[in-house]
Amino acid sequence: MRLILLGAPGAGKGTQANSICEKFRIPQISTGEMLRAEIKSKSQLGLAAKKIMESGQLLEDDIIIQLVLKRLTSTDCIEGYLFDGFPRTIPQADALETQEIFLDIVLELTLDDEQIINRMSGRRIHQSSGRSYHLEFNPPKNDGVDDITGEPLIQREDDMPETVKHRLQVYQDETKPLVAYYQTQESKSPLKYIAVDGSQPVEKVFEDIEQNF
Ligand code: AP5
Ligand code: MG
Repeated sequence: MRLILLGAPGAGKGTQANSICEKFRIPQISTGEMLRAEIKSKSQLGLAAKKIMESGQLLEDDIIIQLVLKRLTSTDCIEGYLFDGFPRTIPQADALETQEIFLDIVLELTLDDEQIINRMSGRRIHQSSGRSYHLEFNPPKNDGVDDITGEPLIQREDDMPETVKHRLQVYQDETKPLVAYYQTQESKSPLKYIAVDGSQPVEKVFEDIEQNF
């Protein structure tokens, strides 16, 4: 099972990725999480990525493609994987084709901008695992701490309202064209394109995903 989760910032990709990966026993390959890990370790890539991510811009395609191709050489990817936040541009999608990496499912989570802004303002994350919560819609069992480790939750630097607006614009300009890109591919390959209404409660979104697989 190789699949892509497409959707605007805050559409719930990370949230649904957890359930999908658990069910299919495949790793989640989130380029956002990988980059946040680089920032945390203060690597050269992390230092370069920090400013770009905080401003809501995308990193250069070549950097991201290299990062992903290296990740795919890990043994845990043999049975499949889920891409979360990758590909995010047409050249990134083209790179998968060039490498003859073919996909089974492209799953789009749809949501309108107003709901996205609400979700981002209430999001809190567990830094080391990337698990995300929402103060109102998806609260942790105990206030302010991760359900599994009990460690404190933090707010992401790029979840400030102005940055969120910019990220949404970048999504429209750079990533949204991938919807048409994969819809066109569906007709000439075994790939299945699915769109699920991401505005529903977390459990209902997952139910719809399961029904469509
Ligand atoms: P990335 O980390 O991928 O961020 P993103 O795509 O903007 O998406 P988010 O992680 O913000 O949202 P999500 O869809 O995962 O939503 P979540 O499940 O957390 O990328 C960050 C940055 O890294 C980019 O801006 C860029 O700079 C760089 N980058 C990454 N990949 C790149 C690439 N390929 N190329 C170039 N640059 C790249 O949910 C959001 C909130 O809503 C949470 O609080 C959650 O609890 C809540 N929630 C989720 N589902 C529901 C629901 N159904 N109902 C109510 N609340 C819900
Ligand atoms: Mg995410």
